[in-house]
Amino acid sequence: MTTELPYTYYPLPQGDEIDLSLGFPEPDSIPIKSIRECFAQLFVEKSDQPDFFQYGHFAGYTRIRSLVADFLTQFYGLPTELAVDKDNVIICGGVSFGLDSILTVLRIDSTKIVYCEEMTYFCALDLLGERGCEARFIPFTPQGVLDLDWLDDKLKSNPEEATRTALVYTIPTFQNPCGALMPEETRKRLVSLAHKYDFYIASDEVYHTLAFSEMRHKMPSSLALLDDKTSGRVMSMGSLSKVMSPALRFGWIHTSSELYERLGNAGALVSGSCVCHLTCGAMEVIFQDGKIENLIQTAADSLERKAQILYDALKENLPEGCSLNSFNRDAPSSAAKGGYFMLIQLPPNLISTDVAKYCKENFKLTVKASSTCGDSRSDRLRLCFAYHKENVLVESAERLGKAIKELMS
Ligand SMILES: Cc1ncc(COP(=O)(O)O)c(C=O)c1O
Repeated sequence: MTTELPYTYYPLPQGDEIDLSLGFPEPDSIPIKSIRECFAQLFVEKSDQPDFFQYGHFAGYTRIRSLVADFLTQFYGLPTELAVDKDNVIICGGVSFGLDSILTVLRIDSTKIVYCEEMTYFCALDLLGERGCEARFIPFTPQGVLDLDWLDDKLKSNPEEATRTALVYTIPTFQNPCGALMPEETRKRLVSLAHKYDFYIASDEVYHTLAFSEMRHKMPSSLALLDDKTSGRVMSMGSLSKVMSPALRFGWIHTSSELYERLGNAGALVSGSCVCHLTCGAMEVIFQDGKIENLIQTAADSLERKAQILYDALKENLPEGCSLNSFNRDAPSSAAKGGYFMLIQLPPNLISTDVAKYCKENFKLTVKASSTCGDSRSDRLRLCFAYHKENVLVESAERLGKAIKELMS
């Protein structure tokens, strides 16, 4: 008897299981028809161009970089004189591989310190762990803003530590796991600290395109736009994983010309060229005629509805003592303003990992303790509202409410 292997590494929920820990797009929202059309078009256009099927350009070939640069220019609403230049854009196999290239090229190793947010994308911690570097954490203020006074003081008072600090890895937009949105002023300050203390910034902006209606026209800048185009230290990463499909492995790094040269000439790229060269050919189609903009709008609208539905259902079902604002119990709570995640703070005395275990064993509900994302606090849970449909999100809030009430009784 042969056992069929699943395509994903992560087990997907079956039957009446609910998994709010998965940061995946909803299966029915993946635009498979559009993806198929893109690849069909690729083969129509490139079949008589065998050169296309050779090793590609290290950083991605000119046309695809131009299309991504034009998309970013338009998406960020930049005037012509500030347009993103194709030679500041490197194509990568999604943010994960972009970050891995950054760590390679910056030679992040056991001698280096990398600062992250107080809680961060758990897989990024694995990437840092592989390099053997020391990961340290910058706290958020009680208002949920990255505390850069803290970082400045720390590096100022310890020059040896400042010298070893090679990189800050940040998720400034709709942060994973807490959903925070870094204000413009904090972004500028972070870039100025990078120059002051001579570190680089890997800015993971994978959720930047997914702003909900309230924020859509007042989004803070991508970090790369706040830095020098020639010798800047910011590498802003984006991808199509969260708006189209993670399987495409298509992303970009927007950075300075100096870093473009260094990243684009990484050994693996010189040897193997851009890792998603074939997909680049298909994505040429999606970056034309407003197609990507339409897909982004559809994804963001759907996520906004879901975020509100989950928020309302949690308000109705969670007992007093839970807070939907992770940083400050007294601040007014609100639904997520973009991205995939929200954080809830548990009533005092409940431990997030215990709650997660109880939910799984008794309610077939998977939630993620933020302590699995580096958080030193044990009273917060991350909930992802992207993967499941709206009625299931309501059901998940009912289950979570019951579980917490049982644990409190
Ligand atoms: C913050 C963050 N960065 C990166 C990734 C992975 O991005 P990609 O699919 O572009 O490699 C994820 C996926 O969950 C994420 O949440």
